[in-house]
Amino acid sequence: MIQVDQRPLGASSLVVPALGVGIWSWGDKNFWGYGQDYTQEDVLQAYKTCLDAGLNFFDTAEIYGQGESERLLGTCMRQDQRPILIASKFAPLPTRFSARTLLRSLDASLERLGVQSIDLYQIHWPYTFLEINALMDTLAQVVQAGKIRAVGVSNYSESQLRKAHARLARHDIPLASNQVHYSLLHRKPESNGVLATCRELNVALIAYSPLEQGLLTGKFRVSNPNAVQVGGARRFTPSFSVARRQKMEPLLQTLENVARAHGKTSGQVALNWLLMRDACIIPIPGAKNARQALENAGALGWRLTDKEYQLIELDSQDWL
Ligand SMILES: NC(=O)c1ccc[n+]([C@@H]2O[C@H](COP(=O)([O-])OP(=O)(O)OC[C@H]3O[C@@H](n4cnc5c(N)ncnc54)[C@H](OP(=O)(O)O)[C@@H]3O)[C@@H](O)[C@H]2O)c1
Repeated sequence: MIQVDQRPLGASSLVVPALGVGIWSWGDKNFWGYGQDYTQEDVLQAYKTCLDAGLNFFDTAEIYGQGESERLLGTCMRQDQRPILIASKFAPLPTRFSARTLLRSLDASLERLGVQSIDLYQIHWPYTFLEINALMDTLAQVVQAGKIRAVGVSNYSESQLRKAHARLARHDIPLASNQVHYSLLHRKPESNGVLATCRELNVALIAYSPLEQGLLTGKFRVSNPNAVQVGGARRFTPSFSVARRQKMEPLLQTLENVARAHGKTSGQVALNWLLMRDACIIPIPGAKNARQALENAGALGWRLTDKEYQLIELDSQDWL
């Protein structure tokens, strides 16, 4: 495997490539349209391309494609044999009333993936009947049992992050990461205290939807008549409305200009901006095929100038 920039996953023992790979779309028919414009073969090729590029940190979840994303990742691993790092997530559904339900879910994830242990296991969201303390105690138990290597959370606010961090500390286990929505079109972690708290507590911020579900690649610009011809339910989300896409135009134009100056693409510039924003940030762009995987990997290995960085920052102030 080639060497790419690496970042520590907070204070855990894990070190991962600065860019991960999100695989929500693998096997997901409803939101992403798996089986329509991309297939298992595309996903297998995306996997191989990521590993060839040195990107071996994959983010999945038990609910992605109702388990299909984890199953596909397991299939890829068995076919390819090169070592990877796996992040998955427990879904604290309203039907789950006890933190012990996590034990069964984790076993099911391990089975779908075909592994003995998951590198990073995250609580998918904080809105649940389950108490943070009880969840963290249960996670500590599975770390001690060797079924997971590090603990993460997702969509946690500043106060929830502090609570999870403090509870795990009682077990001498660091909170490795908080995975939150963060892109140039969604800069809330900067204004809601999450980025600052991650820095303070030495917790990695895993940035999801860093391409704003494809919008930051520029391919859905209002001027593009094919803009919303995408499979799945994504095109019906508010981000894809004409009004919203019109509002993005100045930023998308700046990304295109900067990209041209570097011989890069708008998406690569958007990812590079996040990587430069803070050393604790690990973006995890999704890729459905080899072409997207290769392009996203090209966000590494170069830097925006300070002037370009600031210009982009200015154009994305509306999304703070
Ligand atoms: N924890 C959470 O609650 C949560 C929530 C959301 C996501 N996530 C994680 O974050 C990962 C990434 O987020 P995301 O998948 O929502 O959005 P994203 O990474 O911002 O966008 C991914 C999508 O953009 C398009 N794309 C990607 N690379 C491209 C390229 N080089 N050129 C053109 N189009 C490209 C693809 O869709 P098309 O080809 O269809 O345009 C792809 O599926 C997920 O896979 C998941 O692991 C976590």
